[in-house]
Amino acid sequence: MSILCLVLVLMLSSASSTSCCTERENNCLLQFLAGLSQDGGLAASWRLGTDCCSWEGITCSSMVSKDAMVTDVLLASKRLEGSISPALGRLPGLLRLNLSHNSLSGGLPSEVMSSGSIIILDVSFNSLGRILPLSPPLTTGLKLPLQVLNISSNKFSTELPSLDGMAHLITLSASNNRFSGHIPTNFCTNLPSLAVLELSYNQFSGSIPPGLGNCSRLRVLKVGHNNLCGTIPDELFNAEYFNRVPLFSKRQFTWNT
Ligand SMILES: *[C@@H]1O[C@H](CO)[C@@H](O)[C@H](O)[C@H]1NC(C)=O
Ligand SMILES: *[C@@H]1O[C@H](CO)[C@@H](O)[C@H](O)[C@H]1NC(C)=O
Ligand SMILES: *[C@@H]1O[C@H](CO)[C@@H](O)[C@H](O)[C@H]1NC(C)=O
Repeated sequence: MSILCLVLVLMLSSASSTSCCTERENNCLLQFLAGLSQDGGLAASWRLGTDCCSWEGITCSSMVSKDAMVTDVLLASKRLEGSISPALGRLPGLLRLNLSHNSLSGGLPSEVMSSGSIIILDVSFNSLGRILPLSPPLTTGLKLPLQVLNISSNKFSTELPSLDGMAHLITLSASNNRFSGHIPTNFCTNLPSLAVLELSYNQFSGSIPPGLGNCSRLRVLKVGHNNLCGTIPDELFNAEYFNRVPLFSKRQFTWNT
């Protein structure tokens, strides 16, 4: 009798450990799918009523508690067209989002940029045109976990948005867009962990701000092929671990040292 009970308990516990991602996560992903005009065949596995942990491009955490969590949405080079749904920013355990090399257009939603869980966000090589403004809570000292942000090779044509709250950002790649205006002077106050800053092939104007010298972790700075002028500030060479010669474009950059 007790053996039977034990077997029953084991069966029940193993049954509950094969749990799925939550209904909320299912809905978030289906909202993203609904925003695509071309899904590259995703709909074949992304079906309502099935466990989203088994969907193409989705990885879930091993089940710690009752529910597994979606940790990765990896959909690079899937011929996706359409827009990025803000719902992706509401996946509570999402760590990595890679939508690079698709034809996504419209805006990069602030809900995704300011997600409380994403550490790697790569939307490079798409046709995104604007970054929707970050939501107000960010200005109140919230520290976002984002470490890698790759928005390069899109059609962003605004000024570089405020990256307040990105205290853990290590790599920012924004090359090959149409960003204009000045390079923000207070980069390092906002982004104390910044090690790689890539802004080449844009339309930045003005000079390279001396404030970048306060980025003590900065080791790669690429600002070539913009409309920058002036000298390379001495302060830059104070950056503690700055061990790579900045890649300036000789044609568009002059200095007098
Ligand atoms: C995103 O996926 C592409 C294609 O697999 C890969 O080359 C790239 O390194 C990934 N991005 C990140 C940040 O890992
Ligand atoms: C985007 O930039 C990140 C950080 O530099 C890099 O790891 C990733 O491979 C890049 N993505 C692609 C598609 O090249
Ligand atoms: C670097 O930061 C210090 C302290 O916040 C500030 O006083 C200084 O002006 C900054 N340097 C530059 C070049 O902006």
